[in-house]
Amino acid sequence: MAHFLDLSDAGTDAVAAMINDAIDRKAARKGWPRGQADADRPLDGHVLAMIFEKSSTRTRVSFDIAMRQLGGSALVLDAASSQLGRGESIADTARVLSRMADAIMIRTDDHAKIEEMAKYASVPVINGLTDASHPCQIVADLLTMIEHGKALPGLELAWLGDGNNVLHSILEAAGLFKFNVRVGTPKGYEPEMHWVEQARQRGPRIDLFNSAAEAAAGADVLVTDTWVSMGQEHAHNKLAAMAPFQVNEALLAMAKPDAIFLHCLPAHVGEEVSEGVFEGSQSVVFDEAENRIHAQKSVLLWCLGKLG
Ligand code: CP
Ligand code: NVA
Repeated sequence: MAHFLDLSDAGTDAVAAMINDAIDRKAARKGWPRGQADADRPLDGHVLAMIFEKSSTRTRVSFDIAMRQLGGSALVLDAASSQLGRGESIADTARVLSRMADAIMIRTDDHAKIEEMAKYASVPVINGLTDASHPCQIVADLLTMIEHGKALPGLELAWLGDGNNVLHSILEAAGLFKFNVRVGTPKGYEPEMHWVEQARQRGPRIDLFNSAAEAAAGADVLVTDTWVSMGQEHAHNKLAAMAPFQVNEALLAMAKPDAIFLHCLPAHVGEEVSEGVFEGSQSVVFDEAENRIHAQKSVLLWCLGKLG
């Protein structure tokens, strides 16, 4: 069963194939209405069940539009209005949805819940974000970097701010595609070390700094994310620790002159990124957001055995 809980479930060749397929499909439908299906309708008649135990704009809309463009459809269950919210088990939900839908996408808090879902599901399960990782986002990010002329092997990516779920998936991608990551976080907010070690074992250089300037120096790509992730809303004292890690004009000037700025969104302009950088010419955040659709299509095709 081709579950997509993390990038390593697919591996380097399959993620590369996803990116290539996304580039081809995106070019082939340029200018078409967003809801019109691709000419080959590869998922004709297929249904994706999406479970959201946390908020979402991009993941929800991009998976829905992705299914329409592939010739299928998607439906949403949220915790508040489904039996999951009243305590029905993940195991039973997985087995029921496996009889009704062709794939399941789930956004939740504890990564163990998607592992449980995958254990009991007889259709592919896709990680739409957990507290541990966000692999679908990173397929879109890799696509965006390539589209903006960045060759992945040997690239220097600087991460600024919180060592969170999005960074974990970037580290996993670094291991698979051999790019180097310069992580700048306050002390105590470093990424979980097993993601760092996994990446290092696969070859790239992963540097951990408690200085934004050291992380940003000479970078090809600067990336940040919200300082307070979903589920951490009461971590107010975090903001003061994070303040020196804002991606602003001074920090961007330390990167390569043609560096690009990525942010998975939603952004808190004035906190993790200055307005000047967010709205500036090196920011590609809305290309990145659009690419969620193109990336999600490839993930779905891989999970359903229709890629390549
Ligand atoms: N980047 C991202 O996953 O956005 P949403 O939370 O809006 O889905
Ligand atoms: N790190 C953020 C990403 C949101 C897409 C969060 O988990 O809330």
